[in-house]
Amino acid sequence: MRKIGLGILISGRGSNMDALIRACEQPDFPAFVSVVISNRPDAPGLKKAEGRGIATSVVDHEKYPDRADFEKNLQKILDAHPVDLICLAGFMRILGAAFIRPWEGRIINIHPSLLPDYKGLQTHERVIADEKKESGCTVHHVIPAMDEGSVIVQKKVPVLAGDTPAMLAARVLEKEHEAYPEAVRILAGKLKGRQKVGIA
Ligand code: GAR
Repeated sequence: MRKIGLGILISGRGSNMDALIRACEQPDFPAFVSVVISNRPDAPGLKKAEGRGIATSVVDHEKYPDRADFEKNLQKILDAHPVDLICLAGFMRILGAAFIRPWEGRIINIHPSLLPDYKGLQTHERVIADEKKESGCTVHHVIPAMDEGSVIVQKKVPVLAGDTPAMLAARVLEKEHEAYPEAVRILAGKLKGRQKVGIA
């Protein structure tokens, strides 16, 4: 089986990254993790990835004068690894069009709401405040507009009476860990082998 290489971008805890790493450890899963990159040097996810023998790298956004420079360095790391698909997994930086365009179709994100509802931050707080009966998560293609781009996988959970944002977040997160590997499997079937591209 031809496997695709994943470049996973994180900013923090890395539980979705971990779910992807674990999926990739299954022999019949059509992907492997090439590299995990964090924009924060202290992201706990980095240690988790290292502990599982995955190459990691830090591109600290605070060290670069502007977004273009940050993204150029991000691209450099991606170029140094066999990456067919970028998976944003709790990556909390907005990427610009110059970075995204060459990757379009091969860069995806996970978001803790049923997009197109509740784009942006504080999703669970807003869902509870609006007294919604249902929430969930979405894996979607990344385009140069935040939390837009076509949906690949969506999973729903009920919002229960008395839910706090943390309780709802935990219920949604369980579904995120199922949804992300599912989405990667779907895309692996569509991407024809390795086709690494870089920004010229
Ligand atoms: C996840 O809930 C993910 O959906 C969310 O951040 C969390 C990261 O957790 N992403 C966003 O809100 C992106 N807009 P993790 O680091 O444990 O995967």
